[in-house]
This record gives sequence, C-alpha cells and structure tokens, in this order.
Amino acid sequence: MIRKFSFVRRVRHSKIRASERKLHIRSGKMRRGEAYSFHMKLFLDTANVDQVAEVAAWGVLDGVTTNPSLVAKEGKDFKETVLKMCALVPCVSAQVTATDAEGMQKQAVEYSKWHKHVVVKVPMTVEGLKALRFCRQKGIKTNCTLVFSVAQAVLAAKAGASIISPFVGRLDDAGEDGMLLIEKIMEAWKHYGFTTEVLVASTRKPEHIERAARMGAHISTIPYAVFKQLPLHPLTDAGIKRFMDDWEKTRR
Ligand code: G3P
Repeated sequence: MIRKFSFVRRVRHSKIRASERKLHIRSGKMRRGEAYSFHMKLFLDTANVDQVAEVAAWGVLDGVTTNPSLVAKEGKDFKETVLKMCALVPCVSAQVTATDAEGMQKQAVEYSKWHKHVVVKVPMTVEGLKALRFCRQKGIKTNCTLVFSVAQAVLAAKAGASIISPFVGRLDDAGEDGMLLIEKIMEAWKHYGFTTEVLVASTRKPEHIERAARMGAHISTIPYAVFKQLPLHPLTDAGIKRFMDDWEKTRR
C-alpha cells in the first residue's frame, strides 16, 4: 500500500527504522513483513568502476548490478571489480556462473565472504530456486535475475530472494510491454507479506524509470548512458540560460 501514503520522508536508507515500522503496522498503514521503502532505490547497471564512482558522487546512487556480459565487456578481474564497487555503494550484485544448485551455493558462499555489500545474483531456474533457499538459510542476500513472469516472481520470493529482477527491456524487444510485468508484480505484492524487493532491470530509457517510480517499484537498475539522461530537460537548460542572461543585465 505504498502509494496510499500521503507523506514522503527522506531517510538515509530505504528500510524504515523498526520503531517506525511498528507504529505504521499498528496504525494499519503497512503490513507486517511488507517490503517498504520511503524512497526508490537507484542502481547503476554496469561493471565499469569509473562509471560507478562518477554517479556515486551525485549522492543518489544506492547500488550496482553486474552480470557476466557486463564483466566480460570491461575485461577486468571480477573480484577486484566487485570489491572496488563495494567501497563506493552499499549493494553490489555479483552473479554466479554455475548452473547447478551445489555450484551456485558454493559461489554464493565465496562471494558473500568478499564484502558485506555483496548481493549474490542467481538465475531464475529450478536449480536457482534451491540456491536461493540455501542462501536465505545462510543469511546471504540474493538477487534473482532473468525474471520474465509473475509466476517466476512469486517462486523466487517464496524461495527467499532478497531482490527479484524482472527484465523489462528484453520483454519490450520481444514485442511486449515490459513495464506491464512490473505493474502485475507490484499488484500481486500488495496481497502478501513478501519482503522481496522488486528491481526493474534491463531498463533502456528514462521512461522505464519514471513508470517504475509511479508503480512503486522498489529499485531500478539503470545503464550509465540512461542514468546520465535523468537530470536533463531542455526547459531546465533554457531556464538556466534565461536566469543567467537576466542576471548579466543587472551587472551592466
Ligand atoms: O540488469 C540486467 C541487465 O544488465 C540486462 O540488461 O540491456 O542486457 O537487457 P540488457
């Protein structure tokens, strides 16, 4: 019932304090176990450390998502890259490459020891579900990736994923409206006490992030080129120019 709140509070971290949570549960504003954010988290979808450092300096970056394709593109050491990112942001998704549950679990344990900011990314497969359950039991934070349906979202949440990543851009590529999946997942989440956060992944344009915000999605992960577009608006530029021109006139 996130959108029913008439007030917005800015807090450093998205999860509200336990005392506040209790108050809101008592007053009926939220349900026990509900994944509740006072603000939308913005992640950068990249394996490029310089890009993370640049955007982290804006003061609005909450995390990073990487995947094997992004890591391969940069051609740098995976662990080193993840560790550098962990020094910049509080949440860094590092994806397992094993395809069987046992292998995923082994990698999950290893990655989680690298740094407390590591979130282990696990693909949405049956083996992945087993690994998610294992990680939940071990207290390892997870991000279930490659989610393309509400059924997959529910399975991942039940298996104990901390985050699920529905890929909207790839659904758009396949001729569907990817954001419709986010709408359906957010609708389903209202009925239950899932604490799993919904991360809008495979975003391709600012409109994806705007629609995600309007739906109350907990996180959006954004490619660098799209992140750089977010602060821009032609009327902002025109407005600044006019202010500057007028200001110059007072100095003549
Ligand atoms: O976060 C998932 C993302 O990296 C996938 O994006 O553009 O390859 O569909 P894309």
